[in-house]
Amino acid sequence: MKVAPSILSADFSILKDELKTLKAADWIHVDVMDGHFVPNLTIGPGVVKALRPHSNQPFDTHLMIENPHEYVDAFIDAGSDHVTFHIETVKSPHMLIDHIHEKGAKAGISIKPMTTVEAITPFLDSIEIVLVMSVEPGFGGQAFMPEMVDKMQELSDIRARDNLDFTIVVDGGINDETAKQCLNAGVDVLVAGSYIFKAKDREKAIASLRP
Ligand code: DX5
Ligand code: ZN
Repeated sequence: MKVAPSILSADFSILKDELKTLKAADWIHVDVMDGHFVPNLTIGPGVVKALRPHSNQPFDTHLMIENPHEYVDAFIDAGSDHVTFHIETVKSPHMLIDHIHEKGAKAGISIKPMTTVEAITPFLDSIEIVLVMSVEPGFGGQAFMPEMVDKMQELSDIRARDNLDFTIVVDGGINDETAKQCLNAGVDVLVAGSYIFKAKDREKAIASLRP
């Protein structure tokens, strides 16, 4: 099980130092919000660029924005290794996936709680990452929606049945209890914000999410 702390819950005034407390993490999750797709504004490519020299971990970039195709290049040029967009925001997912790959990054698709797995099945053989939202996107610190576990299981069943190899990521409301439910449903990566950043010992908190 990999762990990807979401820097949305970090202290933005000392982001560089916050990264140093996350050495035990596998990926660094960057939540990008535009005030349109979700009612919140967060991080742009300038912040990704400023942080890039301070970490060797993959920057896992979660675009919660309308028109993601307009910003993909800026994030990849700034140092994003993975670019995950929301299926609800694009008309031509294949074109965007190809573009992300041509730019040398890994491509991911995310689905909101109300969006079914069916909406992304035509793209599962072309992407590296599927990100299942287990809260409504927009804010950290919300409660995990247990109904989303069926979606994670559905995705791992499809992956086994069709011999695919995308990575399943879950995002929202992850703690040491909800992590177990995700693990049992075949999830590979846990994104966690408040659970890790509120912990006294972040290394321990990260370790507690692994089986
Ligand atoms: C929500 C974000 C999440 C969020 C997770 O829109 O995509 O990454 O920061 O935060 P917690 O772990 O606090 O639910
Ligand atoms: Zn996220």
